[in-house]
Amino acid sequence: MKGPTDRVSIPTSTPLSGSAIRLFELITSSWVAAAVGAAAELGVADVMSQVPAPVEEIASRVGADVDSLYRLLRACTDLDLVRESPERCFALTDLGEALREDSPASMRGYARWLGSPTERTTMAHLADAVRTGGPVFEDVHGLPAWAYMREHPEAAALFDQGMSDISAQLTRSPVQDYDFGSSELVVDVGGGRGRLLSLLLSVHPHLRGVLYDRPEVVSSVEPALVRGELADRCRIEGGSFLDSVPAGGDTYLLASVIHNWGDADSVTILEHCRRAMLPHGRVLLAEVVMPQTPEPARTAKFMDLSMLAHCGGEQRTPDHFAKLFERAGLRLSRIVPGPEVSVVEGVLA
Ligand SMILES: C[S@@+](CC[C@H](N)C(=O)[O-])C[C@H]1O[C@@H](n2cnc3c(N)ncnc32)[C@H](O)[C@@H]1O
Repeated sequence: MKGPTDRVSIPTSTPLSGSAIRLFELITSSWVAAAVGAAAELGVADVMSQVPAPVEEIASRVGADVDSLYRLLRACTDLDLVRESPERCFALTDLGEALREDSPASMRGYARWLGSPTERTTMAHLADAVRTGGPVFEDVHGLPAWAYMREHPEAAALFDQGMSDISAQLTRSPVQDYDFGSSELVVDVGGGRGRLLSLLLSVHPHLRGVLYDRPEVVSSVEPALVRGELADRCRIEGGSFLDSVPAGGDTYLLASVIHNWGDADSVTILEHCRRAMLPHGRVLLAEVVMPQTPEPARTAKFMDLSMLAHCGGEQRTPDHFAKLFERAGLRLSRIVPGPEVSVVEGVLA
């Protein structure tokens, strides 16, 4: 009599397809991002240090199930965020330190925002955005992105903190290094909660600033801008840059703003800046610039897809920026390149 195994012919092993494995890695990179997002959301790095601690202790401090947290931390060892030692103990690595809220290199807020259900469900509909050629945010969440933020303060707080991290880590150095020698009054248009402006005012003591964003955003700005030495040099205004921007500045900074908008709205925003600025003034766009020719540009190309899905914006090439400026009565005078974010400078045409 035949047993069940006699009927099963075990195939001779087929060589693994390199393409399938590579694709498997790409497809499952969302698991990696989810693990980083979960670690950030739980705040594990904030209760850890480079000295190993038992998982039970970490779990009790962040309020997590011990065995499940063990599994998360074990996965994070392969990402070089934590190190595992005997007896289920874990320590932070140098890279993991950047997941701490209080790290000077902190990206915790950005990891929480990218890992949030609002962001993840939007990107889950990327194929629809590509099919239709427009943003999916409203179909997915019931309101366009900025209106949604107004109605959902918790999501908005995550977004604003995420943007503050990007300002401090990616945008800060190219903007700070820009020559502000001839500037006096910088208007930070769509400046969020003012992280970038406060950094700018601290390193350039001759500058004064105006922080301009939606009223619900500027109602809770960086404490440094409302108290202390910087507060004397900074004014805070709420409003919509689709209607107008504060007048009288010589430098209009728009950091990661224009990429949120399609061409028609971008031209409107730039026209408002052109009308509001002093004649010798300039507009500075801090943006991840898309290369003019086909070449690797991972941040630009994938950020561009995020813009498509969220708000119908895009990452633009130098030529595209030049055309936008021209339509707004400005002229692209130069691009000061940075490692991720560059400064695209426009002056009166
Ligand atoms: C991607 S964030 C960039 C924030 C900040 N510049 C930074 O680099 O961190 C875009 C900003 O544009 C602001 N924004 C969106 N629509 C606006 C409007 N109509 N008027 C003024 N600000 C607006 C948002 O509130 C948000 O702070």
